[in-house]
Order: sequence, then structure tokens, then C-alpha cells
Amino acid sequence: MLRNDQLAEWDRENFFHASTHLAAHARGDTPTRIITGGEGVYIQDRDGAKILDGFAGLYCVNVGYGRREITDAIAAQVSELSYYHAYAGHGTEASVTLAKMVLDRAPDNMSKVYFGLGGSDANETNIKLIWYYNNILGRPEKKKIISRWRGYHGSGLMTGSLTGLGLFHAKFDLPMDGVLHTEAPHYLHRADRNQTEEQFSAYCAAKLEEMILAEGPDTIAAFIGEPILGTGGIVPPPKGYWAAIQAVLRKYDILLVVDEVVTGFGRLGTMFGSEHYGLKADLITIAKGLTSAYAPLSGSIVSKKMWAVLEKGTDENGAFGHGWTYSAHPIGAAAGVANLKLIDDLGLIANASETGAYLKSALQAALGDHPNVAEIRGEGMLAAVEFCADRDDLKQFDTSATIGPRLAAELLTRGVIGRAMPQSDTIGFAPPLCITRAEVDQIVAAMKGAVDAVLPA
Ligand SMILES: Cc1ncc(COP(=O)(O)O)c(C=O)c1O
Repeated sequence: MLRNDQLAEWDRENFFHASTHLAAHARGDTPTRIITGGEGVYIQDRDGAKILDGFAGLYCVNVGYGRREITDAIAAQVSELSYYHAYAGHGTEASVTLAKMVLDRAPDNMSKVYFGLGGSDANETNIKLIWYYNNILGRPEKKKIISRWRGYHGSGLMTGSLTGLGLFHAKFDLPMDGVLHTEAPHYLHRADRNQTEEQFSAYCAAKLEEMILAEGPDTIAAFIGEPILGTGGIVPPPKGYWAAIQAVLRKYDILLVVDEVVTGFGRLGTMFGSEHYGLKADLITIAKGLTSAYAPLSGSIVSKKMWAVLEKGTDENGAFGHGWTYSAHPIGAAAGVANLKLIDDLGLIANASETGAYLKSALQAALGDHPNVAEIRGEGMLAAVEFCADRDDLKQFDTSATIGPRLAAELLTRGVIGRAMPQSDTIGFAPPLCITRAEVDQIVAAMKGAVDAVLPA
């Protein structure tokens, strides 16, 4: 077995990591962390440390690590048929079965699912579907997409543009033309301190309508949003937000893309976030929880309304010119079938709701009175603690203080992973949906210790 230091050297010399400070990593200023195993909510690194993964990888290992039901299904699929494509009407038993299982679980107005590999490519597919749809309907001007500041939809060209976080735009010449960003629905940071939640929601909807009217409703094709802001800070919407936004979209005949990459398949304690917040989507993006990341697979679920137009389009223009070699890859599909079955068999959606509520209330009990805690929030198995320099005026810490990353590092020394979210000093938790109360207690004790170390009250 190679020693860690040899691998660390190879890593620094050869490996271009995702979302990493490249220079610091190449210099060896930041550690290489090589993960070698996982069981339940725990992962193990090469030095033998057992760490509670309070973020389920990148909020994706929803059933937990080491599930034989899924690894056996993948192994069986590989030995029977490792690959076949999905072009020109081809499929595999796994991909056809999974499509049926997804539609059985999706809202009633949904018709078909297109399978890709990750959340970013699924959202790229969605944009093409929207443009195609409006071209077939004879309205080629109706093409712009409205997203939200602090939304996260991927890091491709269009999807990186849709993402409303500066880090994903600066120096990449993004956002591209035709992508607009409206208000982030975070009640805590409202400019008008006198607004109620409902008034703030009405304000967000009014700002959206203002943007639509300024651009011209005939130019706006779609609005994309996560049911609850994820990477932008794990922020549940204020009361009445989605009803107010959907009323504006309906008024101007604007499609709604609900990005359920994080929330799909149980994370909010319901099968989909759409169900949780009463969203009627034209397209739903799925990835992460579809296979619990045992193999890469994503999907775009298409509504009946859009599907009818896509069919008309191919009658007029021939085959739909969109697809990847690995669309509906059978290994991902086999993982998806076993994963969705396991979510049902283990009752993980109910656990996300019950144990997720316990996580939020335990964080509240441990940290709610701390003078630097601005907000403890969450929904289902998603929770976040936001910190500020001054609780009275919510003044933020200087970014050079790196409070978020320091808290995450202290958590890690206590054997727990929490994520320093890229926006503000917020630590996020999104553990596997199978987590127990005892394991939640371990997260909360570690978080209390980390806060005491970085921000002694
Ligand atoms: C809501 C949402 N959409 C899309 C994506 C992009 O998915 P991927 O990283 O698989 O491309 C993510 C990833 O975190 C996400 O959280």
C-alpha cells in the first residue's frame, strides 16, 4: 500500500481538483485528504480516522455509505451488461425500470424523464428543452432565463451562469447573455427590517415582476429555482414565497424549472421539494439522491405540457438532436433502481423529517443563545448555522477572519464534517437520511466545541 505522503505528492503533481485553491494545494499548504472507506454515516480516511460525514459527501449519499443492496445491483449490472446507449429508442432493463420508478414518484403533471450524468448537465438539457419548446411554439424571442442570486444550478457555461454566486462567474466571463438574476429570498437579510415574512415574499415577487416587465415578458422563457436555497446557504423560503412567485410566472406564461438536485427523493421529508412547497413544475432536475451517488446519474423530468410540444417538434423536424454517449448509463440506472427501493424499504423519507427536525432543534438548544449566531435554520434533513460579528445589526465578520472555514476545520478535529458554505459564515449540515438521534448528538456536540474554540462567548 502506498503511504499517504507518496499519494499526497502524486496528488499535488498531477490532480486538478474541483473547487479548490489551486496554488495553495499545489504548494502543499492545504492537506490532501484521501478517503478509503465508508459505512452508514461514517467515512474513513487513509490515516484510519473515522469521521461522521455531516454533509453526505456533497449532500448526495442519502442512503449512507456501504449499502450492499446497491453495490450488489451495480456488480450484477456490470457483469450482465456494462453498457448500452439510449439513442434511437434503445434502452436497458435498468434504465426503463428506473424511468417508470421516477415517474411513479414524480408529481402527476409529469410525463417523461431524460437521464444524464450530473446536475449540471441535466440543467444544460433543461435550457435546451426550453429553447426548443419556444421555437416550436413560434416564439423565438422568448428565451431568457431568470435565476436567483445565491441559487446554485451547476458550473457549466449556462448552468454556471444560472448559479448566482460570484465565485462561479468572476474571471470565467459568466454569466452568459440571456441569464438574469433576481432577489435571493433570505428573510434574515431583508433590507426593510419592518417587513413580515409574507410582505418580504410579496416584495420578492414584485421585484421579479419588475424585471420581467423591464425586459419584456415576451423575452422571458423560464424561471429556475431550488425549493430551498442549497449551496447559497441552506435557506428555506419565507412564508408565501412560492405561491407569490408562481402567480407572477403564470401571469406572463413563463415556465418553471424546479431544481431538485438536492431535494429530490426525500431530503425535505417528502419525495420532492415540489410537494413540500406546492410547486407546479414544467421541468424538474434530479441527480444526487437518485442514486445516492453510488454511480453518476441525473435526470430532467418533463411535464405533459412540454412533452406534447417536444413531440410536435420532432414530427416537424425529425429526431431530437440531443444526447450523450452515457445518457441513461445502465450502471447508474441499476444503482438508481436499488437506491429508490432502499429509500422506501428503510422509511428514510420519514426519518429525514423526524430526525431532521431533531437536528435543527438540538442545534438551536446548543447554540441559539450564542452572541455570534445570527440564525439557525433548515428543513427536513438540511440545517445551517449562520454566524455574524454583531447579532444586533447582523454585521458580518471580515472575510479575512475566515470564520466559516475555521469552524469547519475545528469540527473536523472533532470527527465531524460540516460544510463552510461559500456565501457568508455559515456551516451547513446535510447528513445521510439514515442518521440516528445518537449520531445527530455527535454532530451537535462537535459543533458546540468548534464554536467555543473559534468564537468563545
Ligand atoms: C441544486 C443543484 N443543482 C445542480 C447542481 C449541480 O450538480 P452537479 O455538481 O452534479 O453537476 C447542484 C450541485 O450541488 C445543486 O446543488
